[in-house]
Amino acid sequence: MADKLIIFDTTLRDGEQSPGASMTRDEKLRIARQLERLRVDVIEAGFAASSNGDFEAVKAIANAIKDSTICSLSRANDRDISRAAEALVGANSSRIHTFIATSALHMEKKLRMTPEQVLEQAKLAVRFARNLVADVEFSPEDGYRSDPDFLCRVIEAVIAEGATTINVPDTVGYAIPELYGNFIKSLRERVPNSDKAVWSVHCHNDLGMAVANSLAGVKIGGARQIECTINGLGERAGNCALEEVVMAIKTRRDYFDLVMGIDTSQIVAASRMVSQTTGFVVQPNKAVVGANAFAHASGIHQDGVLKARDTYEIMRAEEVGWSANKIVLGKLSGRNAFKQRLHELGVQMESEADINTAFSKFKELADRKSEIFDEDILALVSEEAVTQQHEQYGFVSLSQHSETGERPHASIVFTVEGREFTGESDGNGPVDASLKAIESHVRSGAEMVLYSVNAISGSTESQGEVTVRLQNSGRVVNGVGADPDIIVASAKAYLSALNKLQSKADRVAAQG
Ligand code: KIV
Ligand code: ZN
Repeated sequence: MADKLIIFDTTLRDGEQSPGASMTRDEKLRIARQLERLRVDVIEAGFAASSNGDFEAVKAIANAIKDSTICSLSRANDRDISRAAEALVGANSSRIHTFIATSALHMEKKLRMTPEQVLEQAKLAVRFARNLVADVEFSPEDGYRSDPDFLCRVIEAVIAEGATTINVPDTVGYAIPELYGNFIKSLRERVPNSDKAVWSVHCHNDLGMAVANSLAGVKIGGARQIECTINGLGERAGNCALEEVVMAIKTRRDYFDLVMGIDTSQIVAASRMVSQTTGFVVQPNKAVVGANAFAHASGIHQDGVLKARDTYEIMRAEEVGWSANKIVLGKLSGRNAFKQRLHELGVQMESEADINTAFSKFKELADRKSEIFDEDILALVSEEAVTQQHEQYGFVSLSQHSETGERPHASIVFTVEGREFTGESDGNGPVDASLKAIESHVRSGAEMVLYSVNAISGSTESQGEVTVRLQNSGRVVNGVGADPDIIVASAKAYLSALNKLQSKADRVAAQG
């Protein structure tokens, strides 16, 4: 019988460590619900001891999610571990993931500890965690660049203390598939009690090989858990992309011979939700979830696919949740049809009152845009979730004038803590004028490090989705806004980024 492969999703922890990708408790909860629909085995919900916000997010997810195991990261110390256990109390099934660096470089320069001290701390941490929960994962950070003899000693010791999963991170994305696969294999062969734990791979994408390395860790090394994130979100070049690694194992079942519990039809919805929440746009040619992943532009390919789909397609678009971009609703659609569509899209609303609010936003949109696509509904629902968070700044209205040869001018009305203000400004273009009009009143002093516009459903009739990345006093945040008018979408995105800058998040970095 084929072995089971555990899919461990760390979008809400390692993914969130990506600059600008920080999420609120409610955003994380929404994504966790989607991960549960995707049927991931383990959701790493955060790093409870890193901030009160993260603690609350892990706790809310632990209380809400029933079908996946909920995990919190913690450094190898009693305080972090106790905090993780406290946040996980409400979970049906919980895991503590504790880690400490084991490479010579990290031990000497970052931790300023000797190898013997690290070994001792790792043992104490796992022992302490095992007294609180039955499921304990241990990661030797920068494991792939660690001395194999020392690593074997650490792993043997923590398994003896009760670690149930051993995760071997390629923290800096330095590995090569064959070498990483053999590294895992040799650790498993050399550690005497290796059969007492599940082996796991955790690969970063600095050289673009996170997915290939993870697959080699499974195929050559015999690992039976993969740690990954939706859209490959994560620090620097990101983590192993869930959608790619899962579809590789499913499509090449003949080669990997492994079974997973994943409902792949939920992949595209998860990808969209993560992209719309974080503002990290998915590139069109991205495998599985990019807009072009199943588009056949060349005549020869189109002809082939029409005659026999498998001439040029190795997966079916529906298998990963691409619907045929159909018009789903319009302005004559009623509340029940809207509610039914939300259900089909996997969007769960807390109450009938929330559905009513979302429905009236839908009607407003349908008055301005004749065809409403699934993408529009998802954007509307994400925006609605943000609006409900009693944000400091809110969009009210905008007027702007631009004409060839004239300098554009914008006037914007927005709320600050519920009070209306008007800002006015000129600018190089209408977007510039609108954002400067906001700044004329707010004076945030933030620097804009990214501005991008994306058409949500592909045509000029679609809504524009704008991402604005702001940096201030060492913090980087992304704001996202959607509207059929891209200047309004830009203003909404800017206000959303300002709101995120306002929310004070003092966090401890996982790799700090
Ligand atoms: O990349 C890494 O080493 C990590 C650990 C904390 C598991 O994310
Ligand atoms: Zn990592």
